Amino acid sequence: MIYLDSAATTLQKPPAVARAAAAAMGRMASPGRGGYPAAMAAADTIFACREAAARLFHVPEPDQVVLTMNATHGLNLAIKTLVAPGDTVLISGYEHNAVTRPLAAISNVAVKVADAPLFRPEAMVERFRALLTPEVSCVICTHVSNVFGYVLPVGEIAGLCRQRGVPFVLDASQSAGALPVHMAELCADFIAMPGHKGLYGPQGTGLLLCARPAEPLLEGGTGSLSALQTMPDFLPDRLEAGTHNVPGAAGLLEGLRFVEGRGTARILDHERRLAAQCARELAVLDGVTVWAAPRLAHQAGVVSFRVEGMDCEETGARLGRQGIAVRAGLHCAPLAHRTAGTLDTGTVRASFSAFNTTGEVHALVRAVARLRSL
Ligand code: ALA
Repeated sequence: MIYLDSAATTLQKPPAVARAAAAAMGRMASPGRGGYPAAMAAADTIFACREAAARLFHVPEPDQVVLTMNATHGLNLAIKTLVAPGDTVLISGYEHNAVTRPLAAISNVAVKVADAPLFRPEAMVERFRALLTPEVSCVICTHVSNVFGYVLPVGEIAGLCRQRGVPFVLDASQSAGALPVHMAELCADFIAMPGHKGLYGPQGTGLLLCARPAEPLLEGGTGSLSALQTMPDFLPDRLEAGTHNVPGAAGLLEGLRFVEGRGTARILDHERRLAAQCARELAVLDGVTVWAAPRLAHQAGVVSFRVEGMDCEETGARLGRQGIAVRAGLHCAPLAHRTAGTLDTGTVRASFSAFNTTGEVHALVRAVARLRSL
């Protein structure tokens, strides 16, 4: 199989990831719940994972790195801390359901949408500037659209929030591990990311980088302040009730080490080249529409396209039968499709990781060309 669905989950991982996760199963117990070697080994691994993430994302203290189940979990924590019933929130027009559904679940929240066209970062900044009125109590923005690979101008948007004293939440689901994500520079209140995409960890892992305490979604044991019937008020314990996903954290630690070792700039450059090749080669095929940024700097390793006259789900299924894994449809991001004008049809999405090759992109293009000739 040629796997081109890394925006959902990276499937090919550095071999050390699976080795570490399997080894943790056999020799690590509950972290923070005992002074014996197996419990200490788990605690050391969890702490090393926080340290590696703090280094990569410029978080002042490892304790500000909270382990979550995925990015959705982190976004729920951030949103349910910052947004109260009746509030007004400003989001980009490229948000995933992981942002829009938690907002919809809080009563009477007014959601303003900065819905500038695709690949027009200056227009996006202007929309945010115009919509960031005094009643807005929180801004949430994705770094990269999971549908189109569009890199949003989050530095400028975070800057506007700083100027106006409005909390800022970054969804780094598609950028962590490739684009620079700099917690201190952005002054973000929270940054949520999955462990299983660009950080090459196992599914069921994620990180929430916190500049401030958040309200827990779960209460329970933390191994700290056990006599109290309230959650500790310090991080990370406040947000980590119950035993951690230790094999997941052990795998994620190896994923973080891989990203650090290879370097995000090199990974981004590789993924961007593949995306640019993919867009260029698909665009010359008759009857294929491609959404690609005019400037490489505005696109990460994700490309959406459509074969005209063929349902996107059908295109995805036929490519699957040819051994090529892509994701088709709305990608859990109907708002992004609405903003881009593709809500009625959806798109087919190819997304790349550090392990994909130019040969695999050629294979996708040949397979799409075969669909056109059927
Ligand atoms: N949000 C992930 C995707 O875009 C799962 O496919």
